Amino acid sequence: MSPVPITPIKVGHIDDVQELRRSKPMKIPTRFVRDMDERPTLETAALPLPCEVPVIDLSKLMRGTKDVNNAEISQLAAACQEWGFFQVVNHSIDLGLLERMEEAANGFFMLPLEEKQKYPMAPGTVQGYGQAFVFSDDQKLDWCNMFALGIEPKFIRDPKLWPKNPPEFSEIVEAYSKEVRKLCQSLLKYIAASLGLRGNVFEEMFRAAVQAIRMNYYPPCSRPDLVLGLSPHSDGSALTVLQQGKGSSVGLQILKDNKWVPVHPIPNAFVINIGDTIEVLTNGKYKSVEHRAVTHREKDRLSIVTFYAPSYDVELGPMEEFVDRSNPCKYRRYNHGEYSKHYVTNKLQGKKTLEFAKVQTENSS
Ligand code: OGA
Ligand code: NI
Repeated sequence: MSPVPITPIKVGHIDDVQELRRSKPMKIPTRFVRDMDERPTLETAALPLPCEVPVIDLSKLMRGTKDVNNAEISQLAAACQEWGFFQVVNHSIDLGLLERMEEAANGFFMLPLEEKQKYPMAPGTVQGYGQAFVFSDDQKLDWCNMFALGIEPKFIRDPKLWPKNPPEFSEIVEAYSKEVRKLCQSLLKYIAASLGLRGNVFEEMFRAAVQAIRMNYYPPCSRPDLVLGLSPHSDGSALTVLQQGKGSSVGLQILKDNKWVPVHPIPNAFVINIGDTIEVLTNGKYKSVEHRAVTHREKDRLSIVTFYAPSYDVELGPMEEFVDRSNPCKYRRYNHGEYSKHYVTNKLQGKKTLEFAKVQTENSS
């Protein structure tokens, strides 16, 4: 989410999906219709046996006795290693705040288009209102409206993009982001422990961590079988924290053992996932798993997503604890700012962005 200056690019006409839904509810412009191999599997009997993203009880990690704590740390390790995703319950963030955040985000998306367009996401940038990650006029589009803001450090903020409407929006985003930042810091401490590392190793390494928020609004779509809400990708962050709107449809899917598995929302829980940074640092022990969003024929869906990442000046590469003869070094050392820039200037395409950091071996393509 770096405020990178980008050379002009031609993105063609991008329909605002909320407006499209309102004016022509049955129309799916061709730019939204996916090629056959990209079309989603929706929730049908075709999906694998019930298999659910693990649930981590943060209160057990924070206050548990040593035994309870150890058991929960092992669960966390398994969740990170086998899934790259988990839902966290009993996170101790005030539920009223989550509700206010949801109302503020919904309030923003429900404003008239002209009002939202006062905060435009310029083509090729990732802050403001619009569609991110669009770089050409023949690229398929996601059935989603986004509104994104840089939060920390303060220099990544663009004050012109902070909406005046709903009036309490900025204040709520600020309060919410403070709490989610603390949650990220505490999760990273437990993730470090689950890897056998010192608790504050990531905090120290990340320095003034970069934090950004993106709200995704997915209107209903008359042909959810043809479109994607959000293209498959892994997150360029260290950790991502996702809140799903109450009563939203099931929309998030993650790629597990080559199958798209839906994440069923648990009320008041956050969905957490490992991002590219942690994959690199752990030399692939904890992977940033590919995920996407699908849409629903009748229901809309809101997600509020926080990305937490190292400061742009941090150099990253696999930590020595994860490299040995049987685990050769898979990633090179690179500057995280350069990676962020690479991430936000390329379309979302599975785990392709991480190729940037891969060590090239003779066999690699
Ligand atoms: C994201 C993301 C999924 C969702 O914003 O990076 O993966 O369910 N969102 O909105
Ligand atoms: Ni994501």
